[in-house]
Amino acid sequence: MTVQGAVLRALRKPRGTAAQGFGKTNRKDNWAIYPVIQALVFTICAGYLTFSGILWGPLFGPQVVQHDGYLSPLFSPLIVWPTMPTWLSPGLLILWIPIGFRATCYYYRKAYYRFYFADPAGCAVGEPTIHRRFALENALPFILQNLHRYMLYLAFIPLAFLWLDILPAFNIVPDTAGTDAVTDPHFRISALGVLFLVNVILLTGYSLSCHSLRHLVGGRLDCFSCTRARRVRYTLWQRLTDLNRNHMWWAWCSLITVTLADVYARLYQAGVVSDFAIHFG
Ligand code: FES
Repeated sequence: MTVQGAVLRALRKPRGTAAQGFGKTNRKDNWAIYPVIQALVFTICAGYLTFSGILWGPLFGPQVVQHDGYLSPLFSPLIVWPTMPTWLSPGLLILWIPIGFRATCYYYRKAYYRFYFADPAGCAVGEPTIHRRFALENALPFILQNLHRYMLYLAFIPLAFLWLDILPAFNIVPDTAGTDAVTDPHFRISALGVLFLVNVILLTGYSLSCHSLRHLVGGRLDCFSCTRARRVRYTLWQRLTDLNRNHMWWAWCSLITVTLADVYARLYQAGVVSDFAIHFG
């Protein structure tokens, strides 16, 4: 056997202690329910978001994504220019960041390895024997999962713009770019504005509860109390750890709200639903 062959063999998936064979297990509980529900929710949300953010424009022509102060979160910050090709959706210029961030997320990896690849489908559940030929995350394409920490840094860029989008959504500053530009803003509280706000709060919670961020802040220290800076980092690490305990919750809720925010924004822009707004001043 060549050295390369020996290395690849060593990288292959270990046999583990679960029963061998797809779906074989001694578990008596309904362990398959969670992966099935998660697969449904994830596929619906991810499929819709990909269609709306990336495919809609090229398939059906130019689209209005900013209306009455509301910019769909899939397109923020909005990047367009006069000679922009019609096959290119402005959403694609942004969405590669949150897609890369979520696809490499430690929690989502666990989830979609289970419900898409049965790798394994659940704890103590057997998986297809073909998996033993894979080198896990030691080879392409899954070695790219190691980019997660860099996707985390990038993810804060669109997140900052989503916070700025709250200002025109509540009419705190005028929307000067949308189809119905408002030049004399008066504060409003609206259903869509509140949904945008809830969405950005949940996205912030999702980003701040990231395992990589927690390690970035509190990792590689062998003494938390030695210096003032380290004590600050320890305090921050404790706060992030509190958020991190519910990382799965942040992940699912923010995925659902970002989907709902885009659906509602599109329906409102099309005149299908109203905004239920209260105006002040
Ligand atoms: Fe999930 Fe970083 S681990 S976002």
